[in-house]
Amino acid sequence: MNRLSLLLHLIFFFLLISNLSALVTADDEFVYSGFNGANLTLDGAATVTPNGLLMLTNGSLRLKGHAFHPTPFSFRKKPNGTVRSFAVSYIFAIYCLRPNICGHGMAFVVSASKNFSTAMASQYLGLGNDESNGDSANRFFAIELDTNQNDEFKDINNNHVGIDINHLTSVNSSSAGYYVGDNGNFNNITLTSYKVMQVWLEYNGNSKQINVTLAPIKMAKPVKPLLSAYCNLSTEFTGMAYVGFSSSTGSFVARHYVLGWSFGINKPAPAIDISKLPKLPYEGQKPQPKVLAITLPIASAIFVLVVAALAILLFRRRLRYAEVREDWEVEFGPHRFSYKDLFYATEGFKNNNLLGIGGFGRVYKGLLPTSKLEIAVKRISHDSNQGMKEFVAEIVSIGRLQHRNLVQLHGYCRRESELILVYDYMSNGSLDKHLYGQENNSTLTWAQRFQVIKDIASGLLYLHEECEKVILHRDIKPSNVLLDDNMNGRLGDFGLARLYDHGTDPQTTHVVGTIGYLAPELARTSKATPLTDVFAFGMFVLEVTCGRKPIDQTSQDGQLMLVDWVLHCWNQGLLNDAVDIKLQGIYNIDNACLVLKLGLLCTHPFINRRPTMRHVMQFLNGEMELPELTPTNMSFNMLSLMQNQCFDPKITMTNPFPISNSTLSDLEVRSHTWSPYNV
Ligand SMILES: Nc1ncnc2c1ncn2[C@@H]1O[C@H](COP(=O)(O)OP(=O)(O)OP(=O)(O)O)[C@@H](O)[C@H]1O
Ligand SMILES: *[C@@H]1O[C@H](CO)[C@@H](O)[C@H](O)[C@H]1NC(C)=O
Ligand SMILES: *[C@@H]1O[C@H](CO)[C@@H](O)[C@H](O)[C@H]1NC(C)=O
Ligand SMILES: *[C@@H]1O[C@H](CO)[C@@H](O)[C@H](O)[C@H]1NC(C)=O
Ligand SMILES: *[C@@H]1O[C@H](CO)[C@@H](O)[C@H](O)[C@H]1NC(C)=O
Ligand SMILES: *[C@@H]1O[C@H](CO)[C@@H](O)[C@H](O)[C@H]1NC(C)=O
Ligand SMILES: *[C@@H]1O[C@H](CO)[C@@H](O)[C@H](O)[C@H]1NC(C)=O
Ligand SMILES: *[C@@H]1O[C@H](CO)[C@@H](O)[C@H](O)[C@H]1NC(C)=O
Ligand SMILES: *[C@@H]1O[C@H](CO)[C@@H](O)[C@H](O)[C@H]1NC(C)=O
Ligand SMILES: [Mg+2]
Repeated sequence: MNRLSLLLHLIFFFLLISNLSALVTADDEFVYSGFNGANLTLDGAATVTPNGLLMLTNGSLRLKGHAFHPTPFSFRKKPNGTVRSFAVSYIFAIYCLRPNICGHGMAFVVSASKNFSTAMASQYLGLGNDESNGDSANRFFAIELDTNQNDEFKDINNNHVGIDINHLTSVNSSSAGYYVGDNGNFNNITLTSYKVMQVWLEYNGNSKQINVTLAPIKMAKPVKPLLSAYCNLSTEFTGMAYVGFSSSTGSFVARHYVLGWSFGINKPAPAIDISKLPKLPYEGQKPQPKVLAITLPIASAIFVLVVAALAILLFRRRLRYAEVREDWEVEFGPHRFSYKDLFYATEGFKNNNLLGIGGFGRVYKGLLPTSKLEIAVKRISHDSNQGMKEFVAEIVSIGRLQHRNLVQLHGYCRRESELILVYDYMSNGSLDKHLYGQENNSTLTWAQRFQVIKDIASGLLYLHEECEKVILHRDIKPSNVLLDDNMNGRLGDFGLARLYDHGTDPQTTHVVGTIGYLAPELARTSKATPLTDVFAFGMFVLEVTCGRKPIDQTSQDGQLMLVDWVLHCWNQGLLNDAVDIKLQGIYNIDNACLVLKLGLLCTHPFINRRPTMRHVMQFLNGEMELPELTPTNMSFNMLSLMQNQCFDPKITMTNPFPISNSTLSDLEVRSHTWSPYNV
């Protein structure tokens, strides 16, 4: 029981002691590792900060501050004996508010009195005044850390350590720094660097030698002192004396901090526990300027880079998804797609998604992410925005039409010199691929071909007669006929040819469409009518039935005009020979002959002989008999001449077809003798 209480008392005692940062161990020594709870006598601006720093001045102008150990020490053993040896060490830091202009300094002082009320600030460091300076009655001995050069006191520079006795003019002084080794190199130290440093002071009572040493914290005390002086302090101090600090600011300001302090008479100064020292407040000039000097530029460089990269990304993004939008488009809003959506739908217009390249541009497959709708995206480049409004209006109005034999247009998007149209995706592609062997085994059967012909006739009839106004397709041909999942034919690209028909001056009017499918009268008038569509439809019908192009360049006897050839076969009484050999004879002969004759009728060079689409439908459905036609009724020569003139591949689309007057008059003559069609 006794033992336990003793132990508890001991623990309590140690707790109490360790809680006091100032541990005064005996009459002739003390150590402060931080000043929390320390019993110091302070005056002027001196304060102990909440975290235990002794702040002698606070950075205001013309201040002085003092801090003394509360009780005086007896420096002599006997009342009239000599002053004994003593040792002091302290740890300090000076924060300079303006770089390189710092005032004025601080000093460790031994003095007979704590009363420095008459001392002056500024260069007097709070130690003396203009009258008493040098007076032996002052009774002070000080180690000054002077950060201002004052000629009055013969200061060597604005960064020095000096030994002062009753006078601000130092007995000996040295530029701040330390020696490495016994006679080693001298390293400069800047007192106002706000780095934590330590000062050691020893006085030998026998040799009367004073040694002062300075070094950065965490460095062992240098062997060679910074400066020394011989001085018989016994003549200066009589009786008891106080130890403490004095500091001042003037027109130049600084904050003077003491972090730790120890003192011993007739013994070395006790060691200060560096780990317990209070932290200095972070100031503009932080104690880790190295870290900042490296990290700050790197951080700012990274910041600038990141900002620049973001800006470039945003800029590129804006460029990448840039669109053209005009006021008049508001009414077409629901049909307007954003370029970004189309970009994502087609995976950035990847080549993998390319469906084909046509006369207007590239066509890509896409998948709209929200609706999971498969689309075909057609990019059309064009030079000007001329006529764009009318064209978009027309395209959109056509897009509103819904018919089982038209490829549904979902909408459009505009960019700089580019128009993008969004269609329903047709899984079986365009008809030309099925006719001309890319997929050899999937050659269409006769039934499928006949169905597609009927489908296209039905779609075209709808455009011409069944919807609100007459719409011309202008570019009927197998590559513009697409096959849906059920191999039904659907007409695509309607009205598109018109994009090149706007705003051009009449002298250079373009004939729009595709060579081989252009009606001969277009050469004269260049005005598309429903019957020019019928002509192209007739050519399409012949092509699907015969599996040959309107103008076949590959045949043995040079160019082969499809119409001529069919007429030739018919004339020989072997109209069946004209039917595609890839069908291997498997087809309905009656249907095939009907379709071939219908094709010839639709491609009649005289406009008024061609049937309308309504009649075409009736012929195909067997609701009406074809008019009596005989091959001999038809002038091969004339047709050949016609076809050769009109479809010479050397003549480009932009050139009007050259037809001489004689040809025209011949045609007029023939028209009387050839009238196979009377309805
Ligand atoms: N809606 C669609 N669905 C599936 N494939 C399509 C669709 N539209 C076009 N394609 C494919 O893209 C190819 C190119 O079409 P495009 O219309 O640009 O050229 P074209 O029809 O050959 O010539 P033109 O420019 O005279 O129309 C077509 O041959 C077809 O295979
Ligand atoms: C501080 O020191 C003075 C002078 O010795 C003394 O009178 C006072 O009691 C001390 N105070 C504390 C809190 O130790
Ligand atoms: C510094 O201390 C003086 C005197 O104690 C006071 O008047 C002044 O306001 C203080 N300045 C700052 C910046 O704390
Ligand atoms: C000490 O010296 C003073 C004068 O300097 C003298 O008055 C005093 O008597 C001396 N005391 C002793 C104990 O010698
Ligand atoms: C300090 O000294 C001055 C004059 O010398 C005096 O007026 C003042 O009362 C003294 N102050 C203290 C606290 O002793
Ligand atoms: C140290 O400081 C002194 C005085 O300012 C200067 O003359 C000397 O060149 C400095 N030495 C070094 C190593 O910086
Ligand atoms: C002062 O320093 C010198 C040189 O290192 C040394 O010889 C001397 O003993 C020191 N004096 C004191 C009082 O420490
Ligand atoms: C001043 O200190 C230096 C360095 O210790 C020393 O060499 C020099 O002799 C001292 N001067 C005087 C006058 O004591
Ligand atoms: C120092 O001063 C004291 C008193 O004035 C004197 O007794 C002593 O002899 C002096 N010592 C030296 C070395 O001058
Ligand atoms: Mg097309």
